[in-house]
Formats: sequence, structure tokens, C-alpha cells
Amino acid sequence: MAHKKANKQFDVVVLGATGFTGKWVAKYLFEQYQGTSLRWAIAGRNATKLNDVRGFIGDHKSSVVGIHADNDDEPSLRALAANTSVIISAVGPYAQHGSLLVKACAELGTHYVDLTGEVPWMRDMIDTYQDVAVGSGARIVHSCGFDSIPSDMGTYFIQREAQLRFNEYLKSVRYTLVKAKGGISGGTIASMMNIVKLAVKDKGVRKLLGNPYALNPDPSFKGGDKRDQGGVKYSRDVKMWTAPFLMAGINTRIVRRSNSLMDFRYGRDFRYSEAMATNSGVAGYLAAKGISVGIKSMAVTSVTALGRKFLGLMLPAQGDGPKVDPDKPGFYYIQFNGETRGGEPLQASLRGDGDPGYGSTSKMLAESGVCLALDALDTLGGFWTPSSAMGDKLLSRLQTKGGLTFTIDD
Ligand SMILES: NC(=O)c1ccc[n+]([C@@H]2O[C@H](COP(=O)([O-])OP(=O)(O)OC[C@H]3O[C@@H](n4cnc5c(N)ncnc54)[C@H](OP(=O)(O)O)[C@@H]3O)[C@@H](O)[C@H]2O)c1
Repeated sequence: MAHKKANKQFDVVVLGATGFTGKWVAKYLFEQYQGTSLRWAIAGRNATKLNDVRGFIGDHKSSVVGIHADNDDEPSLRALAANTSVIISAVGPYAQHGSLLVKACAELGTHYVDLTGEVPWMRDMIDTYQDVAVGSGARIVHSCGFDSIPSDMGTYFIQREAQLRFNEYLKSVRYTLVKAKGGISGGTIASMMNIVKLAVKDKGVRKLLGNPYALNPDPSFKGGDKRDQGGVKYSRDVKMWTAPFLMAGINTRIVRRSNSLMDFRYGRDFRYSEAMATNSGVAGYLAAKGISVGIKSMAVTSVTALGRKFLGLMLPAQGDGPKVDPDKPGFYYIQFNGETRGGEPLQASLRGDGDPGYGSTSKMLAESGVCLALDALDTLGGFWTPSSAMGDKLLSRLQTKGGLTFTIDD
């Protein structure tokens, strides 16, 4: 059942449509929704670039409306938010360009989704605007890309099945990225470097990044989880060696926040972890060791301004991203394992079609925005996570349209 449309000019607007990821979000919406009842538009600060996006998405008749909005210009953001039900923001780094937009959405009751993985910025936004968003009815949902939809919705999926089968939730869930083919965009690198820069300067940021419950409504919550995996471990779940997973510091915080926002339905002692598999045998061990050492060296290098400059030269610049090969669009395969408190095991898999960094991410982000705009949801205003805001409705969209396949492995 579709819900009644809000009395605004647009259901969905993609802001940052000129960026590496934003243009794929626009392309997805054009291919899936142009000519349907969804009223959507693209927005950005540069009219020429917005026009180029029309060419990229195949809008040869210029039928998609382009709106001027600049993230440093509050009146333009307020005008956009006043006319829109849901803003999809692909403008990053979010800590540098995102705060005025969240403020406008929270104040004007405009729903909002983004791709941020910047934990300190999310904490700041939650603390500053949660009450405002509750008052206006705006649903604000961060991290609707590869960080952290597979983690959050995968956990939601396996937990929903555990409840059906065993009449209880799993006490712990372990995510293993088993295989993936994809790259990382310049905007993502810039966002990561910005976090490192903040952490180097600010002890409070370092402490927050080390807190496994950094995004819980109450960040002083003490549960069973401690640090993320820091070295090589053998996983009996996938029968392979595993290395630390670069995105675990974001995803685990989102999954734990979901549990808390859903009244600790998975339990106050629920545990969640993430790792990346390499292979079995000596080759697998050495590969995991290599990744583990690589991540540590990158972290050490990025501590200094010179190191960040050096990494910046080797990695894609803002506006750029991984090479796009239409014949080899990328993919990922994630396994979830867990046990109930009674010891019943359960295993689920998630397969995503498309490069996790932009292809699959753009579909997940677009469907999250459309879900908030069109689906009947019970959630009130406030800062949510994908699963706590959109639950079954988003799961269904991701499976029918977003290229994600969730399965229970019996
Ligand atoms: N969670 C995930 O899985 C995932 C995946 C991919 C990306 N991301 C995140 O998404 C964000 C975007 O990444 P990207 O690689 O697509 O970045 P990008 O190519 O650098 O694009 C950034 C976009 O932001 C716009 N922008 C920057 N400053 C602005 C301002 N003041 N006002 C209006 N627009 C402004 C840019 O507009 P111009 O074109 O005019 O410069 C561009 O459209 C990053 O924070 C990244 O970390 C997350």
C-alpha cells in the first residue's frame, strides 16, 4: 500500500547529483522511475555539471528538473527542503558540507538519506538535531550505501528468520565479506582522510572512534562488544582466514544503534562483528596478514599531513572513482552466522550485484529515498538507521529492485 503523498513539489531530490556516486543514483532513478508517478529531480551547485548529468543518465529531452542548491548557502537548502519530501544527499565529505542540510531537513520536516560513514559527524548531528527532527517529523537516515545497508539489513534479515524459526533472536551475529569486486571513489577517500585529520587533532574524536557503541542513543551503553577485529583470525564460519574489514568501524556502530533503537530486540547482550575473508591454507593466512599490515600502514601514513598528501596522489581524487566496465559491473558476497542463546545456529547470505562502491550503493541509496517517500512506515521523526526506519519495506525494495539477494542457507 502506497501512502498519501506529501503536499510538496517533489517526492525525491538527489543533491550532489554531479558527483561520482550521485550521478549513478540519478541514472538509477531515471531508468527505474522516470515516467512513473514519482516526482523526482536532481540538484547541485553547478548548472553546467547538472546539465552534463542529463547526458550521462540518457535524459536527451531534458525532462528531469535540475535545481540550484549549494550546501554552503542555507537559504538555497531551506528552499529545497521546503519543496521536497525526501532529500537524497550524495554531497561529501559530510562533516565538511553536510550539516546545514541536515539542519534544514530536521527543522522543516523533510526526510533525508545519505551515504555517510563519518561516525563523529553522525554523533554530532544526532546530538544537535534529534529533538528538532522528532518535533518536525523528519526521518533522518544516515549510511544508506554499502556502509551500512548490507550489515544492517543483513542482520535484520537473519534475526527476523531466527525469530520465526526459534521464537528467539540470535545472541550474536558475525558478518564475513567473502568475495567482492569493486573500487573506492575519491569522495570516500576524502571523507576517510577527513576523519583521520579530525582524530589526530581531537582526543574526543579518537575516544569516540574507539567506542563500539559510539552511535547508540546512549553512547555510554556497555554491552558485550569491545574492539573491532585488529589482526588475522581463522573463521570457522567460512573456513578461511580473515583480515580486519575497513568498514567495520562504521557498520558495527550502525547495527548496534539499530538494536538499541528497536528497544534492544536482539538483546542487551547482543554481539556483532565484521571481518573480511581471504582464503584457506597458507596463501589465505599470508593474504590476510598482508591486508592487516596494509591497513595499519595506511593508518600510520595518514596520521601526518604529508602522509595524507602522499596517499591522495595514489588514490582517486574527488569527483573520480573506480574504472567503470559495463561488462564487469562488480559484485559482493557476504555471509552472516549466528547462534541463539539456546545454541541454535543460523546462516544467511547476501549477494549484491554491482560494484559495492558506487553501482550497488547507488541503488541502495535511491531505494532508501523512494521507500521514505512512497511506503507506509510507522516510524516517527528522528534519527534512525535503515533497518529501524524502514525494516520489511526496505528489505522488499532491495530484493525486488535494488539487486540484493538475501537467502537463508540451510
Ligand atoms: N557508504 C558508501 O558505501 C559510499 C559509497 C560511495 C560514496 N560514499 C560517500 O559519498 C560521498 C560522495 O562521494 P563521491 O565519491 O560521489 O564524491 P564526489 O565525486 O567528490 O562528489 C561530491 C559531490 O558533492 C558536491 N558538493 C561538494 N561541495 C558542495 C557544496 N558546497 N554544495 C553543493 N554540492 C557540493 C559535488 O558537487 P560539484 O560537482 O559541483 O563539485 C559533487 O556533486 C562521500 O562522502 C563518500 O564517502 C559512500
